[in-house]
Amino acid sequence: MRLEPGQVAVVTGAAGGIGLAMARRFAAEGLKVVLADVEEDALREATAELSADGAEVLGRRVDVSERDSVLALADAAYDAFGAVHVLCNNAGVGSGAEGRMWEHEPNDWKWAFSVNVWGVFHGIQAFVPRMIASGAPGHVVNTSSGDGGIAPLPTASVYAVTKAAVVTMTESLYAHLKAEGADVGASVLFPGPHMLRTGLWESHRNRPDRYAKQRPRKTPYRSLDQYEAAMKQAGHEVRFTPVEDVAAHVIDGIRADRFWMLPESEHSDRQIRARARSMLDRANPAYLESFVLD
Ligand SMILES: NC(=O)c1ccc[n+]([C@@H]2O[C@H](COP(=O)([O-])OP(=O)(O)OC[C@H]3O[C@@H](n4cnc5c(N)ncnc54)[C@H](O)[C@@H]3O)[C@@H](O)[C@H]2O)c1
Repeated sequence: MRLEPGQVAVVTGAAGGIGLAMARRFAAEGLKVVLADVEEDALREATAELSADGAEVLGRRVDVSERDSVLALADAAYDAFGAVHVLCNNAGVGSGAEGRMWEHEPNDWKWAFSVNVWGVFHGIQAFVPRMIASGAPGHVVNTSSGDGGIAPLPTASVYAVTKAAVVTMTESLYAHLKAEGADVGASVLFPGPHMLRTGLWESHRNRPDRYAKQRPRKTPYRSLDQYEAAMKQAGHEVRFTPVEDVAAHVIDGIRADRFWMLPESEHSDRQIRARARSMLDRANPAYLESFVLD
């Protein structure tokens, strides 16, 4: 679709990381932006920053895992700006699960699903009917991940399962929008191609009591800095993609109506081929056997 000044973009998880980079970029393109996030202080700061730069913005505290909260977000967005053209269902969390799958706490699964899967579905239900009814061009971007969206990292398998669901949900959404003849596009975003310096490694800061861990972790949460230092010590340089590049990829993808917002990467292509080949050959997934799972 054409992106034009005066249109409205809604971004969930907009108080930091990739969401804030997308919000900044939409604002720079002259769009009005609704920033939605569960983290109030960071949201206030992000909204103030964009507003000080001259953007028309609305900051709204939302818990995407709660349907009523997302429905209220949609009401607030339409009340404030009268339309929504771009919806980015981007809020997401790592699950904090440890060990083998059969040792995971059910609450790790429930929390990650509530945000990463239900959150995206809530966004679709709250906004898409009104976007279609307006008759104006629109676009929905759902944030997945190479982890799960392409193939699982068995070290982060709960997260991977949620991100695989986001791909399938978005494929289905695409089919439904086409069947409806709607002028609303859909994309699935794989941020990257490298790692991102965001708050994802500290997702537990937003974990609600209703999905609290039932037992203490065996190992403390590892920060991104600690991970990077450990990799360096093992002789591996961790490469990062700036969040601004992800935002640029999203803008280009919306303009080009590109479903797969999947940056060029030999690594991703190798993973896709290995998985597809294993399925086509009816062969076991050997590409999952080389992980070090301690
Ligand atoms: N960082 C990476 O390496 C990476 C890679 C692939 C995909 N992603 C995905 O990108 C998206 C953005 O993550 P990020 O890396 O910018 O991390 P981040 O932690 O910096 O940003 C996520 C935002 O979502 C918000 N959030 C969490 N729970 C919420 C809830 N219940 N309701 C509303 N907002 C909530 C957080 O407060 C935060 O501002 C996520 O979906 C993540 O899974 C990240």
